[in-house]
Amino acid sequence: MKRDKWLQYRILRDGSSLAGRLPETQLFTKDALTKMLLQYRSVVLKPRDGRYGRDIVFIKRNGPNAYRIHNEKNAVTMRDTNKLLKWLRKTNSDRGYIVQRRLQLAQIGRKPFDIRIMVQRKKGSSSTWNVTGSYAKVAAQGYLVTNVASRTIPVLEALKLAEIGDRSLLVKAERIALLAAKQLGERYPKLRQVGFDIGIDRKRRIWIIEGNYQPDLRPFRLLKDPSMHRRILWYKEH
Ligand SMILES: Nc1ncnc2c1ncn2[C@@H]1O[C@H](COP(=O)(O)OP(=O)(O)O)[C@@H](O)[C@H]1O
Ligand SMILES: [Mg+2]
Repeated sequence: MKRDKWLQYRILRDGSSLAGRLPETQLFTKDALTKMLLQYRSVVLKPRDGRYGRDIVFIKRNGPNAYRIHNEKNAVTMRDTNKLLKWLRKTNSDRGYIVQRRLQLAQIGRKPFDIRIMVQRKKGSSSTWNVTGSYAKVAAQGYLVTNVASRTIPVLEALKLAEIGDRSLLVKAERIALLAAKQLGERYPKLRQVGFDIGIDRKRRIWIIEGNYQPDLRPFRLLKDPSMHRRILWYKEH
């Protein structure tokens, strides 16, 4: 199970009903970037093998020849398409990148958040997938990714603070995560856990951002309620 966002996108998109839950994604090329910026205005560049939100670049078209670029806590404006491409070549070196439509994630106090949904199955080929935990990640001040120095809180609390929904929205997101896990599990029979990053946009639409095969469990340990962490560890052993 290689960490490869492009491969995972194709597994989820092809052969399941989840295509509409995935923000449009293409392998990064100059043409793909230009086309997507015209179509969506705001896009995200991510390393295929990315982790922890690093090297993720948000680009917004601000007129015919101007771009607003946001990376980590920094934002710059570029007034020339060639300069933009040159800058990207330098930043991205030779790692493969994907370009993806940017979602307008729901916010808490002007900070975007997304949710992590942990899905696991027991050993044995016929076992079914179960949601074993979830939490919301709120971006740190100035960041557009939720990985960095983020606050983690229970999902229901986040949905309430964002005034975007209640338990039924979480249940819907969980169902989508389960479908996605099933799809990945068919491709990888040995796969037993996926930590999904699920986005909810301002129109309450649910999106699959990515699935992590080796999700960090620390945030579950830090939640006030220890029951999720316990359940996750139980599933790991059974
Ligand atoms: N298409 C997108 N639109 C808006 N925000 C995004 C998008 N893709 C990623 N993000 C934000 O960046 C974070 C990191 O992206 P992700 O694809 O999970 O990469 P990583 O492997 O670095 O965790 C996400 O949790 C989300 O907060
Ligand atoms: Mg992630």
